[in-house]
Amino acid sequence: MRLTQEMSKVEVKGFEARYYDRLMDLITLGYYPFFIRKAIKDLGLREGEKVLDMGAGTGRNALLMRPFVGQSGKIVGLEIGKEMQEQFGQKVAKYPNIELKDLRIDEPLPFEEAFDLVFISFVLHGFIQPKRDLIIQNAYKALKPGGRFAILDYANFDVDKAIWPVRFAIRKVECPLAEEFIQRDTKQMLSAHGFTDFEEHFYFGGYVRLLLAKK
Ligand SMILES: C[S@@+](CC[C@H](N)C(=O)[O-])C[C@H]1O[C@@H](n2cnc3c(N)ncnc32)[C@H](O)[C@@H]1O
Repeated sequence: MRLTQEMSKVEVKGFEARYYDRLMDLITLGYYPFFIRKAIKDLGLREGEKVLDMGAGTGRNALLMRPFVGQSGKIVGLEIGKEMQEQFGQKVAKYPNIELKDLRIDEPLPFEEAFDLVFISFVLHGFIQPKRDLIIQNAYKALKPGGRFAILDYANFDVDKAIWPVRFAIRKVECPLAEEFIQRDTKQMLSAHGFTDFEEHFYFGGYVRLLLAKK
C-alpha cells in the first residue's frame, strides 16, 4: 500500500481534540498520568533549560515539564490544532515562561541553536517519511550544540507478535503510517541526520519508548 499524508490521523480535531487528555487516560485504563509523569522525569531536564515541544497538544506535557526547568527556563509549544491551542492557552495562562506558537512542524521552522531540548510526543509516527525527515532536520537546527532530541512514541517492534490490544490499536485505531513507523529503525533515522549518543526508556511493556539523542 502506498502511504500518503492524507491517511494520517495526527492532526487531532473535534471531539477527540476537546477530550484528548481524558481519552488518553481512559484508553490506558487510568495509567496515562503515571506513565507521562515518569517519561517527563526521564527527559532529565535541568533548571534554566529551554524546551521546544513539537505538536504540543493540550499543554499537559508543558505543564509537567515546567517544574523541572523552573522560572529561569522556557517552554515553547508548536501546535496547529485550534481545540488543542485553546486548551494549551487555558492551562498555561499563569506561566509567562510557557509560550505557544501556531507553526507547522513539517515545514521549515525559524529556530536556530536556541533550545536545550526538543521534545516530540506521539506525533512523529503520523507523518510520511519525507516529512519526518524535515521534522528531524527542524529539531537538529533548533538545538544548541550538545542539545537533546527526545522522541516519545511507539518503539520498534514486530506488530505481528505484539499482544492483541496493541495489534488492535495499531491496525484498527491508528493510521497505517504508525505501523510503518514502528517497522522503521528510529535510531537509524536520527543517525542519518547527525544525532548520536542514544538513550532509551521503555514503557507499556516495551511498546512505547522515549528515545533521547544528542546533537
Ligand atoms: C497525538 S497528538 C499528541 C499531543 C501531545 N504531543 C501529547 O503527547 O499529548 C498530536 C498533536 O500534534 C499536532 N499536530 C499535528 N500535525 C502538526 C503539525 N504539522 N504541526 C504542528 N502540530 C501538529 C496535533 O494537532 C496534535 O495536537
